[in-house]
Amino acid sequence: MEENIRKLMGLLKPMKVNIRPHLKTTKSPILAQKLVDAGATGGCVAKLSEAEVMAEAGFDDLLITCEIVGPVKLRRLVELFRNHRKIQIVVDSELGAVAVNEALSSSGIEQPIQVLIDLDVGLHRTGVAPESALALAQQITLLSHLRLIGVQGYEGHLQHVHGRETREAQCRDSMAILTTTASMLRQNGFDIQVVTTGGTGTAEFCATTPGITEVQPGSFIFMDSDYYNAVGGFFSQSLTILSTVISKSGSEHRVTIDAGLKSLPTDSGFSEPKNMPGVTYTPMGDEHGWLSWDDGPDVPLGARVEMIPSHIDPTINLHDFYYAHRKGVIEEIWPVATRGKVQ
Ligand SMILES: Cc1ncc(COP(=O)(O)O)c(C=O)c1O
Repeated sequence: MEENIRKLMGLLKPMKVNIRPHLKTTKSPILAQKLVDAGATGGCVAKLSEAEVMAEAGFDDLLITCEIVGPVKLRRLVELFRNHRKIQIVVDSELGAVAVNEALSSSGIEQPIQVLIDLDVGLHRTGVAPESALALAQQITLLSHLRLIGVQGYEGHLQHVHGRETREAQCRDSMAILTTTASMLRQNGFDIQVVTTGGTGTAEFCATTPGITEVQPGSFIFMDSDYYNAVGGFFSQSLTILSTVISKSGSEHRVTIDAGLKSLPTDSGFSEPKNMPGVTYTPMGDEHGWLSWDDGPDVPLGARVEMIPSHIDPTINLHDFYYAHRKGVIEEIWPVATRGKVQ
């Protein structure tokens, strides 16, 4: 993990962009601080509830990358902002911006919150269309409690594109949408200081695109097999889920481990046992999984098997603690502090 952090900083720091890692992966203020100590500038979180926990733990230089919509969340945002003025948010609609403004202006807080326009650069998940960005910027500047500071455009659909050249070419197209929109807003008098984007699969392309000021990679710190298979081994798979062989009933070529769907998500394929070539994993319900092989050594009852997750973020969200080890000795235990914080 430390090597992954060093590699990311070594790669991106010379490119003169801010590195604001996405903490939706680690869900840990301790790891957030380690990233800042290594050179990051603050962090991103996906959700308001993650920001609440991070800020309470003393880490509040945060961009919340999902839109905050609805009266309950807006009340919570106001309370968060009351004590943590560095919080940045994104909006992608006039309705959303007006609601944030109303919540803040009726709170007695005078300072405006820093806002970025979320732009759709091809993912089609959230974000205004580029042609609607100017109108939204004009609407935001009419709102007393919002201060427009930048544009976010996340190209999540490109992170796992196989083949570096293809991924880079598609990323450059998305970045052109983002930087052209930012320039157009500046030409219309808006003070766009932040242009933020990028994940593990694209950060280096984003960072070398003129006009991009900040990148948001998250998964690089641990990786997972799906990412690894797509982008190669520059970052290593530094997190495994430790399981135990709890039964040998059934077949000579199969054992059952105590890791099923509650331990290892399957949305991006099945996990892989570490250093066990020829052995495959199949989930067998909530609590169990099979390890099976055609030829190979016996796996004894009680054996500990390290499983490499196929998709890191939802895997971490299923577990309470990290056990940080070096050469087989556990050095630190870190809570997954924002586990389950998906509101
Ligand atoms: C808005 C945003 N930025 C950055 C990231 C980080 O991407 P990755 O984990 O692929 O590095 C994500 C991940 O989903 C994201 O949603």
